[in-house]
Amino acid sequence: MSQNPTLLFSVDRSDARPIFEQLCDTIRRLIHNGVFNADTRLPATRTLAQELAISRSTVVTAYEQLVAEGYLQSKPGAGYRVCGLGETELPGRTKVLQDNNKSAGPPRQISRLKEQLKEPLKEQPDKLLTPSLPDMRLFPYRQWAKTIARICRTRPESMLTGSEAVGDQQLRQAIAHHVREWRGLEVSADQVIVTAGATDALTISFRTLLQPGHNVGLEDPGYRPILHQVTGMGLNPVFLRVDSDGASLPDSPDSHQPEAQLEADAHPDVVVLTPSHQYPLGNTMTPQRRWEYIHWAHKHQRWIIEDDYDSEFRYIGRPIPAMAGLDQLQRTLYIGSFAKLFSNTLRLGYLIVPEPLIAPVRKILSDYSLKAGLMPQPALAEFIHSGDFYRYLRRVRKIYSERNKYLVQQLQTRFNHFGHVQDYSAGMKLVFHLNQTFNDVDIVTRTHQAGLALEALSTACYQRTDCNGLIMGFAGYTEQEIHTALDQLLSVLCSCQDIAAK
Ligand SMILES: Cc1ncc(COP(=O)(O)O)c(C=O)c1O
Repeated sequence: MSQNPTLLFSVDRSDARPIFEQLCDTIRRLIHNGVFNADTRLPATRTLAQELAISRSTVVTAYEQLVAEGYLQSKPGAGYRVCGLGETELPGRTKVLQDNNKSAGPPRQISRLKEQLKEPLKEQPDKLLTPSLPDMRLFPYRQWAKTIARICRTRPESMLTGSEAVGDQQLRQAIAHHVREWRGLEVSADQVIVTAGATDALTISFRTLLQPGHNVGLEDPGYRPILHQVTGMGLNPVFLRVDSDGASLPDSPDSHQPEAQLEADAHPDVVVLTPSHQYPLGNTMTPQRRWEYIHWAHKHQRWIIEDDYDSEFRYIGRPIPAMAGLDQLQRTLYIGSFAKLFSNTLRLGYLIVPEPLIAPVRKILSDYSLKAGLMPQPALAEFIHSGDFYRYLRRVRKIYSERNKYLVQQLQTRFNHFGHVQDYSAGMKLVFHLNQTFNDVDIVTRTHQAGLALEALSTACYQRTDCNGLIMGFAGYTEQEIHTALDQLLSVLCSCQDIAAK
């Protein structure tokens, strides 16, 4: 490496990308090309800012984005260092990386919107802190109604007729465009299947790839409805313990299987992962672990299903590129949902598959007569196309980010005697890890009675017994509502502490 690493950096002011994004791209490239090895110390933020004549906060933003993506780590007093990327090499990797850099997408300015509603707030929701619930009071009902009215006027038949089980063509194009811009995925509309939510996309994937008796790797802890889906379809779960790098590899000693299967070959045929934002812990899978999984899938001819259920909601930097992009969608199927972005009741999501799976998926759709409801699809396509969807997304991102910050700050200041929170600045919920004196199921039961809808972290665990925490949603609630809910929680925790002390 050059004696003075700052010489490796430059900024191009004629480039449409913001400067922090140019820095991110440069650092990613230097890491992938091996110029920066594991443990390389990056130039100090002040030095680099001076050399490039840019603000120090721009350098900090770029470094923090790469910390969130798992490329860098920061240690107090020691600056920023490169994390190990692993040496797993795949055919076509260089091209993947180039493409991945190229597809970084245009800059996205988060507009300065106050938490102010154009339409009056409806009354407070029944239950507070429900995990992963969007705030439908912020929804632009007027624009949505106008979009539907326009479709009804101009092409009403598109809402009620159409034989394509894969979904409305314009919506599939809009989704292909969306994942290119937001998730760094280069896909054609042919690879996109509109589904009735992420859950339906999983069902279609399992039916396409597996037979009863096959094994499915699931993150532990994870999203429990997927476990029910797996067992309900006669498939065997194999549990992949989540550590700080993400889900452990199927052949790692940290993975574990149900006792009933210890005798059987419990190597998963498919793994279901949430690499952008682990459900429910919230961490991001490191690049090294992503490459190890991709390498594993190629080596054993297995499949990865990337469940990217809420990745548009990252509040630092821009969304982290999808794992399916690293793999160039060779062994990875990608699932997205409009439940969080738009509305859960719309029941629309999508599945994006490698080209060789297009025909098998179509056959499954036909064999099982699976089809997402057509009626809202043309309107959603137009909503995305007109930009209303992105205006709404940017607006709620800003508001949810403030709510996330508020909840974290409250937990850190008012609740630090009871446990701790790790702020990943992402998603719509977070986990408050309780001290051992508390039992999360007990606390959740008591807070339900007080009008909160928290979930116990331990109930999201399958095999492991070391999780004890509260899963709390923040997106659906104003700061005032969060404050009210936390007052309730505080009194429950205090009363439990008093009982324990007696
Ligand atoms: C990790 C994860 N996967 C899948 C889903 C299901 O999404 P959908 O409602 O689109 O079926 C959820 C919903 O919260 C989720 O959290």
